Amino acid sequence: MRRKIIAANWKMNFVPLEAKAFAAELVPLVDVDDVDVVICAPHVMLCPVRTATKDTRVAVGVQNMHFEDKGAYTGEISAPMLAHFDVEYVILGHSERRAYFAETDALVNKKAKKALAAGLIPIICVGETLEQREQNITIEFIRIQTKLALAGIDSADAAKVVIAYEPIWAIGTGVTATAEQAEEACAALRQVLAEIYDKDTAEKIRIQYGGSVTPGNAAELFAQPNIDGALVGGASLSLDFEKIVKYGGG
Ligand code: 13P
Repeated sequence: MRRKIIAANWKMNFVPLEAKAFAAELVPLVDVDDVDVVICAPHVMLCPVRTATKDTRVAVGVQNMHFEDKGAYTGEISAPMLAHFDVEYVILGHSERRAYFAETDALVNKKAKKALAAGLIPIICVGETLEQREQNITIEFIRIQTKLALAGIDSADAAKVVIAYEPIWAIGTGVTATAEQAEEACAALRQVLAEIYDKDTAEKIRIQYGGSVTPGNAAELFAQPNIDGALVGGASLSLDFEKIVKYGGG
């Protein structure tokens, strides 16, 4: 039985003082033992979030990292730096990074390997555009994204990874994939994981759904057999996130 994992992706929101106040209010409400809860904050808010989550079951994550440990990469942040701040998770290959910062599948793969080497758990995002869905190539496309992201990662490491299925047309739009659409994609992802590795490994890997998740649709999404939680954007910026976490508790 896979444990559900519900992660907040704050994206580029809050300033540190706001993050401090919100985290102080939120964390006690989502410090639960039946679901893994993660707050993925901007790097400069790691200190307040880490303070709020100290001695709780709520984990800290970030939304990006560089693919090298150190070097002449102006403005970048590496996995070992993040590990020093007790960061446990890192979102990789979010569609916003792919779209606005030209992140490729090869880059996501390099980052995933570095994250795992530093002891961080990558939350690897895959998902199709509306055009691709209309062309009926959703499954093919997310299968390839997954294969490229995991290239060269062995099954022991892969078992730790979280995959987030985030259809781009559902992100920040208020249009959620139906539970059937989300389950179909997540089941296909589990199938490709079984092909890359084996059934046992595929059964261990957690697959989240992301894209306009709210307290109103979380329960139905979480009831699907291949959906192991959510990556939440907009609704993670308010106490709605607590309600979503409660639905994950079963
Ligand atoms: P929304 O929940 O705002 O649609 O964002 C989803 C997302 O991109 C999470 O990573």
